[in-house]
Amino acid sequence: MNLQDLTQQVIHIAKEAGQFIRSERQIFNYQNVEVKGLNDLVSYVDKTSEKMIVEKLANVFPEAGFIVEEDTKSDTKSYNWIVDPLDGTTNFVHGIPCYAVSIALEYQGEIILGVVYEVAQDECFWAYKNGGAYLNGQKVQVSQRKNLSESLIATGFPIYNFSRLDSYLQVFTHLMKNTHGIRRIGAAAADLCYLACGRVDAFFEYNLNAWDVAAGALIVKEAGGQVTDFTLQNNWLFGKEIIASNALLKGEFGCLVQEKFKLNP
Ligand code: IPD
Ligand code: CA
Ligand code: CA
Repeated sequence: MNLQDLTQQVIHIAKEAGQFIRSERQIFNYQNVEVKGLNDLVSYVDKTSEKMIVEKLANVFPEAGFIVEEDTKSDTKSYNWIVDPLDGTTNFVHGIPCYAVSIALEYQGEIILGVVYEVAQDECFWAYKNGGAYLNGQKVQVSQRKNLSESLIATGFPIYNFSRLDSYLQVFTHLMKNTHGIRRIGAAAADLCYLACGRVDAFFEYNLNAWDVAAGALIVKEAGGQVTDFTLQNNWLFGKEIIASNALLKGEFGCLVQEKFKLNP
């Protein structure tokens, strides 16, 4: 398999889905929103985008299985496509411009290809293993900021699982007082890509799924950043918690999150 060629095909597929999402946004009616669970929204746009993506991915690499958000397909193999057909649905349905298509290829627990297409700004981020990270064809790298005091942090607020809220708020309080600020962008895939290209310096969130982080995390790593779970280990893909930062902040930021979440493991 040629990962570079495959990445180009996946970019094309992500952009086609993005084009569909963009045109639906023009005519989108809020009455089409369905509620999957507390604060967990979906519409025909997410589901149709996923169907389009799954059908095309199955053609370009039929050996791979699928782990997808909207359940249009489910079978896992050694290789798996991990797909979020519309990351940032809440932004999308409210008309806030940051939502993305996220497609990753996993091989035996490791992500080897990732594409995030942020539809509203027409920004396509991608990476494949050992190939570097790119934004619209230009190589990107994480920032070089080495202190939290000069950093901008991205996070996602808990929206339906509040079991670790106390720890979350302790990290949040520290960051409010000791950084340039905190951003809630509303799409985890975009949070990670914004870290990869140096717009923000660190990101953490709990209760994310594999499809939220798979592609973005590889893009961060290929841009020179670090990704761990809240114990600074490697269980971030399926472990529902992620810390990501530039390499220089790994110690200060990682230890802060680890320390506060010891209270609510
Ligand atoms: C959501 C976004 C958001 C994060 C949520 C996710 P969705 O994904 O990534 O930033 O905070 O927890 O569920 O539902 O829009 O695909
Ligand atoms: Ca998502
Ligand atoms: Ca989604």
